[in-house]
Amino acid sequence: MANASLCVGLVCIDIVAESERFPVEDTDHRIPNLSYRRGGNASNSCSVLAQLGMKTEFLGTLSNSIQLDFIQRDFAEHSVSIEHCPIFPDCEFPTSIVILNACNSTRTIMHHPTNLQELGVQHFTNLNLNNYSWIHFEGRSANVDNIKQMIKFVRENSKSIKISVEIEKTRTVLGELLPLGDVVFISKEFSQFSGFPTMKEAVKGFIGLSRPGCIVVCAWGSEGAAAGQNVNGTDVVKCQSASAPCRIIDTLGAGDTFNAAFVYSQINLWDWKKGLEFACHIAGCKIGLKGFLGLEQFKQTFLFEASDNDSPC
Ligand code: FRU
Repeated sequence: MANASLCVGLVCIDIVAESERFPVEDTDHRIPNLSYRRGGNASNSCSVLAQLGMKTEFLGTLSNSIQLDFIQRDFAEHSVSIEHCPIFPDCEFPTSIVILNACNSTRTIMHHPTNLQELGVQHFTNLNLNNYSWIHFEGRSANVDNIKQMIKFVRENSKSIKISVEIEKTRTVLGELLPLGDVVFISKEFSQFSGFPTMKEAVKGFIGLSRPGCIVVCAWGSEGAAAGQNVNGTDVVKCQSASAPCRIIDTLGAGDTFNAAFVYSQINLWDWKKGLEFACHIAGCKIGLKGFLGLEQFKQTFLFEASDNDSPC
């Protein structure tokens, strides 16, 4: 098996209310299902990478609270290592209340960051970089300076490790991470916030702001995703339509799934255009499943089926 993939970022508690419709304010609304899950972008992406067959580690801060046992067991059930995560006393895990609306498949997240501290640079520089072939950083506005130093540490100490960076939330400071990744994932929200109305324009615009040779990837929800790279002075951009299951069950973490599947394709040295198709396929399959377990079967369906939903930009 290849060296491990490492995802650096948030783990939190997700309290997920599965509702037949969006609740009306100031009413007492009954729901058919409530689940208690491990969430957070980097933590979710780890679950997906492990499902796809990668040796996977998560690095982020943990709280020594009553939820720690649940978090540790859930990482173990998903085969994700957390051996280097620092654990802090006197704090709680960040928590999200999520409403999954079965009517239109939206997921509405109300997130409370709590008093758990962000990952420090020394937690990262203690790692033995020889153990990793890919490191994915979730851009976190409260920790941008530390993330920049972690990336600098990787660049100075490894020629082989590839780095991906996720820029999701609409915070200007996250733009500072744009020039640092070999692959950069930029959300639809951040793209629109930056003035790009379409995925194609976003990819083209961000290529100019990223590291030479960087692959820029913009997922655009139900419309699909686009990716691009500057090759010998020319921007090559590909758009891919989304793939949807017969029945949408759970859209929470679809973006984290997309990112992980694309990272998987690049660790395995696939052409990025095939990686884009794969990421759309796996994200589409994920929303037909509750949680992330069971995704591995869809890697096989992708590998054996010809893809025919290519849409030129
Ligand atoms: C999904 C997610 C949830 C978490 C929230 C944090 O992408 O990671 O699991 O509650 O986003 O922003």
